Amino acid sequence: MKITIVGAGYVGLVSAACFAELGNHVVCVDRDAGRVERLRKAEVPIFEPGLGELITKNLAAGRITFTTDMKAGVRHADILFIAVGTPPAGDSSADISQVLAVAGEIGEHLSRFLVIVDKSTVPVGTADRVRETVLNALRQRGSKSGAARRLPDFAVVSNPEFLKEGAAVEDFMRPDRVVIGVSDDPSGRKAEALMRQAYAPFNRNRERLIVMDVKSAELTKYAANALLATKISFMNDMANLADALGADIEKVRQGIGSDRRIGYDFIYAGLGYGGSCFPKDVAAICHTARESGERLRVVEAVRSVNASQKQRFVERIAEHFGGSLEGREIALWGLTFKPATDDVREAPSRYIVRRLIALGASIRAHDPQVQSIEQLMPGESVARLGQRIRFVSDPMQAVRGADALVIATEWKVYRSPDFAALRKSLKKPVIFDGRNLFDPADMKRLGFHYQGVGRRAA
Ligand SMILES: NC(=O)c1ccc[n+]([C@@H]2O[C@H](COP(=O)([O-])OP(=O)(O)OC[C@H]3O[C@@H](n4cnc5c(N)ncnc54)[C@H](O)[C@@H]3O)[C@@H](O)[C@H]2O)c1
Repeated sequence: MKITIVGAGYVGLVSAACFAELGNHVVCVDRDAGRVERLRKAEVPIFEPGLGELITKNLAAGRITFTTDMKAGVRHADILFIAVGTPPAGDSSADISQVLAVAGEIGEHLSRFLVIVDKSTVPVGTADRVRETVLNALRQRGSKSGAARRLPDFAVVSNPEFLKEGAAVEDFMRPDRVVIGVSDDPSGRKAEALMRQAYAPFNRNRERLIVMDVKSAELTKYAANALLATKISFMNDMANLADALGADIEKVRQGIGSDRRIGYDFIYAGLGYGGSCFPKDVAAICHTARESGERLRVVEAVRSVNASQKQRFVERIAEHFGGSLEGREIALWGLTFKPATDDVREAPSRYIVRRLIALGASIRAHDPQVQSIEQLMPGESVARLGQRIRFVSDPMQAVRGADALVIATEWKVYRSPDFAALRKSLKKPVIFDGRNLFDPADMKRLGFHYQGVGRRAA
């Protein structure tokens, strides 16, 4: 099929590469000319396992091209996916201006039936606004040309994306489900048939398509993220209680995860959720609810637990050192919001770095993907922070002579360190583990003061 993806970010690039890999002819449009130029040379601007190989292979096979030219993208496609950003607006709603800007451009160039797919995470009602925006652009074109022509037909479909960064290619190729929201009219039915065709290769082992009305599809994405965030905050709340009662949240996790109705996923206590999706999506669904005269009381609590979790963690560190970190050198392992990605958007490490420095500490940081303060806090003024943080290329280099080690992201490389060397390298054998990587009793035996989340300090 002929597919256009607008937006060459985490979602757009993965979608483009995977559709191309399945034999489709894909045009990927991005407004960032530098990004497009690099992609044409198979230089992938983000880190996502397996993505580089797919792009290189499909560029060579001529099944994927990159451009800044929306007209070429619109004219190419049977189906056009909008995968641009929907960042948080000041009032915690989702800012859909990038999506509507793309819709306007589609209207400027549309010449035959097109399925326009909202793949970006967008609030309920956005498909209607995309439709209006495309129609307005089409009408303007009509009035400029002066000719009373029939407007080209199109359908707006909701197809939210559920991939996880760090496993995005695998998730896209083997989705748990593909949610499609279509309208119940002739254009909607035509669009459904084309969407079924596009996703047929993903259905070989079982039917994965769940077709519904557009609004339900839009809400499904927010409901999924809100529920996953709820599991995380629930567990963090429980971890704080476990701390107070002298219980071990890891034992509790295993005790409840073994219940199939609960399951093991997303019930790790830690520093709370971060990333480019959960924080903004959870905030946006609360905003949508309030605008509709409802309140999502559970989800609002989820947000407040999440905000306090990383604060409590830093308070624990400060307490250990008597309230001030003046003159202390802290080693920090892990900066991305989770392992196997280079994404630092809303990463708990950003808060931790700021707070530790505000309390007087200097930081020596290691992360497999993040190597500068500019990369950790893009677009922020970081000159002052930059003087207090040094980035090193080896985890053991970070701990040499440090007063404590703080673990903020559970990269695989941190899971089995040489504990004897670690103990010798640290000035004092003190570890604050925001990801509960190690067993407190083992750590005590090895001579560490070890503080996880929701587990008695050893
Ligand atoms: N990142 C994830 O894990 C993930 C998962 C599921 C859903 N989503 C949702 O998918 C959407 C995209 O997220 P992302 O992380 O891929 O974003 P991103 O910021 O990585 O990429 C967005 C891209 O869109 C481009 N863009 C913006 N406006 C454009 C325009 N008018 N024309 C052409 N290109 C334009 C930008 O230059 C950028 O390259 C968001 O709504 C997000 O919530 C993200």
